[in-house]
Amino acid sequence: MTIATMMREAQSQSAGADSTGASGSAPAVAVRVRGLTKGFGAGEQRVQALRGIDWDVYCGQLTMIVGPSGCGKTTLLSVIAGILNCDEGEVEIFGRALSAMGDRGRTRFRAENIGFVFQQYNLLPALTAAENAAIPLVIAGWPRERAVRRAGEVLSSLGMGKKLASLPGQLSGGQMQRVAIARALVHEPRLLVCDEPTAALDHETGLSVMNLMRQAAVRPDRAVVVVTHDNRVFGFGDRVAHMDDGRIVRIDEQAVEGAEPGTIGE
Ligand SMILES: Nc1ncnc2c1ncn2[C@@H]1O[C@H](COP(=O)(O)OP(=O)(O)O)[C@@H](O)[C@H]1O
Ligand SMILES: [Mg+2]
Repeated sequence: MTIATMMREAQSQSAGADSTGASGSAPAVAVRVRGLTKGFGAGEQRVQALRGIDWDVYCGQLTMIVGPSGCGKTTLLSVIAGILNCDEGEVEIFGRALSAMGDRGRTRFRAENIGFVFQQYNLLPALTAAENAAIPLVIAGWPRERAVRRAGEVLSSLGMGKKLASLPGQLSGGQMQRVAIARALVHEPRLLVCDEPTAALDHETGLSVMNLMRQAAVRPDRAVVVVTHDNRVFGFGDRVAHMDDGRIVRIDEQAVEGAEPGTIGE
């Protein structure tokens, strides 16, 4: 690491201390995005997925990104989560600039601070529910048995206590999604990002999944971002960012009957 990079890291860390400080009543900024652009392909095939995004996500809130298919939601989420590099612009997560981290630093920061829930669950078919949910802890160096036990506790708090030893193939869609959520929460990340978490679920299961998301968000030092085009769950967002053609075109704030700070990850 060069001295310049270290200085930038130190600066962004102290900026983070300011922006997440407890003074003042305004919620702290969890994700700050400025001037973000991202395109795919070249020449005639070029697609401009993000056309200049300026956006803040606040701690203690569930923020939704909604908009038509192809408008850039997954791309925006992937850039925020550090999975995809942007072309231009800056992303800060809890006051830390992703661009100042370098590849290895970013991978470690992501593993420690960000949990993902994907639409397709991405469970490993040969591992039990508890073993799947334990993966982030095993990666973090926990002994396997302790990690699986801890994952079992999180799964139990999601109503999955009787399915710990089941393989993904023996679970319903809603149950697999809960394993994916447990895996995303097990290492208690401060930022949870979810891409269409209810898309494959029936209405009732979708609502219970969204309630779990809210419980995870209702913490002053945490934030949840959910991408969805499922209008049945729009009401769960404290803030709803509407995207169209690579831009955020409107942000609605709404009062939500919040879930109590939850049992998840406790
Ligand atoms: N890896 C990729 N290669 C080429 N084009 C892509 C890629 N990922 C996304 N796109 C294009 O970028 C645009 C935005 O995609 P995406 O972010 O997935 O939209 P959404 O999640 O809102 O449906 C779309 O036109 C899509 O086809
Ligand atoms: Mg998408």
